[in-house]
Amino acid sequence: MTGGRRPRGDMRGAEVLGLALLALLPPCPARRAARFQPTWQSLDARELPAWFDQAKFGIFIHWGVFSVPSFGSEWFWWYWQKEKIQKYVNFMKNNYPSGFKYEDFASLFTAKFFNASQWADIFQASGAKYIVLTSKHHEGFTLWGSEYSWNWNAVDEGPKRDIVKELEVAIRNRTDLRFGLYYSLFEWFHPLFLEDESSTFHKRQFPVSKMLPELYALVNKYRPEVLWSDGDGGAPDDYWNSTGFLAWLYNDSPVRDTVVTNDRWAAGSICKHGGYYTCADRYNPGHLLPHKWENCMTLDKFSWGYRRDAGIGDYLTIEELVKQLVETVSCGGNLLVNIGPTLDGIISTIFEERLRQIGTWLKVNGEAIYETDTWRSQNDTITPDVWYTSKPKEKLVYAIFLKWPTSGKLSLGQPRATLGATEVKLLGHGQPLKWISLEHSGIVVELPQLTVHELPCKWGWALALTSVM
Ligand SMILES: *[C@@H]1O[C@H](CO)[C@@H](O)[C@H](O)[C@H]1NC(C)=O
Ligand SMILES: *[C@@H]1O[C@H](CO)[C@@H](O)[C@H](O)[C@H]1NC(C)=O
Ligand SMILES: *[C@@H]1O[C@H](CO)[C@@H](O)[C@H](O)[C@H]1NC(C)=O
Ligand SMILES: *[C@@H]1O[C@H](CO)[C@@H](O)[C@H](O)[C@H]1NC(C)=O
Repeated sequence: MTGGRRPRGDMRGAEVLGLALLALLPPCPARRAARFQPTWQSLDARELPAWFDQAKFGIFIHWGVFSVPSFGSEWFWWYWQKEKIQKYVNFMKNNYPSGFKYEDFASLFTAKFFNASQWADIFQASGAKYIVLTSKHHEGFTLWGSEYSWNWNAVDEGPKRDIVKELEVAIRNRTDLRFGLYYSLFEWFHPLFLEDESSTFHKRQFPVSKMLPELYALVNKYRPEVLWSDGDGGAPDDYWNSTGFLAWLYNDSPVRDTVVTNDRWAAGSICKHGGYYTCADRYNPGHLLPHKWENCMTLDKFSWGYRRDAGIGDYLTIEELVKQLVETVSCGGNLLVNIGPTLDGIISTIFEERLRQIGTWLKVNGEAIYETDTWRSQNDTITPDVWYTSKPKEKLVYAIFLKWPTSGKLSLGQPRATLGATEVKLLGHGQPLKWISLEHSGIVVELPQLTVHELPCKWGWALALTSVM
């Protein structure tokens, strides 16, 4: 229905005639041309909606029944019952009556202090531009009242609340962040999945009666703009009908114009098919990738779900977090930082502190992060821990440095100055800085002599270089 302007002249007669003819035709649903075919070739050619690359930074939230034991990992159920890892077996033996089942944790998942508005305010303060909530992890418990997850969802059990809805409303009503959902295709112990699996996926009971209808309902109801698929369960794409689903998502779903997806849609699709690439957990290649990618990582180095047994050294420091963000963005990625709320819905103070800290850093340095492009060089060749981004239209290159040089002079081996045009500024500091050109060997920038209190920020700084080559 797009296309050229209306021809000039009096078309009314013809239009009226056309309408009259249309009225005689049998009713037929308005149909847009299907732009994407259910093949990887067609789907992979979709251009990623521009907002995603501009956003650079999102927050991942792992919350579910695994947040009740909050011990070891969100893979608690699997490690305890399937792998029978001693640490988990002992934890259950020492703390719960014999006969206590994983399912019994659901009623203890109270979310008593869960206040979606409070979460939204923290996310907004972090400077993130999108969030991704685990609507269902591999345990199968859905954080909304899924009709296909009888008695194993947050409306019938535990919180007795539609967690997905509450967070969606708070995010959309209070912030300018995009709302996204994680969804695990398979479920560790779902009897239909296990039956299908033992038929080496010739049977398709689980996707037909559970996963597909649930995923369509989830998209229609909550309109996520990130759909973060995971948990292929070793099954191929024709088992999940991944390409059929994605063709619907891109052609006909309510979020067809803005939704982005990742690459975890079937065995073998990761780092190869779908939307942006995740490739592996905590993926941070340190070099430029030709395809848009995302580094999904955790503030607790060892778990995605909340873990009471985490020590202070298990959490990333703010310096480490800033480094992850800067490296990732310089190499063309987005950073997706994960937190795990407690069973009662609290974002623990250490997670909140990290998020607020990165927010204050981005208030000063966001110009060098959001809506930037990569540059011809990703990191410096003379000084380690210097990473580059750029805004070609504004003739700007940003050099983000993570260590303040003791000499007060920052040597950059990559940018070449243009006499009479180059200008260097420290973000958050007004005056232009002095610099010396080393011609083809780079530029030396004289940093301002600031006291600790005069520094525009801690944990990393950014130079804006105008007109360098
Ligand atoms: C939820 O948090 C918001 C924002 O902090 C606050 O205004 C509101 O009173 C809280 N609601 C409840 C029920 O505590
Ligand atoms: C959004 O917030 C406004 C004012 O804070 C409130 O009146 C409205 O009901 C909220 N919308 C939703 C969908 O909750
Ligand atoms: C796959 O999904 C498409 C689009 O929804 C549908 O038309 C098709 O029947 C599905 N195929 C199978 C085998 O489930
Ligand atoms: C940075 O650049 C140098 C030189 O090009 C390269 O050897 C190094 O691997 C790069 N990456 C990091 C993380 O320093």
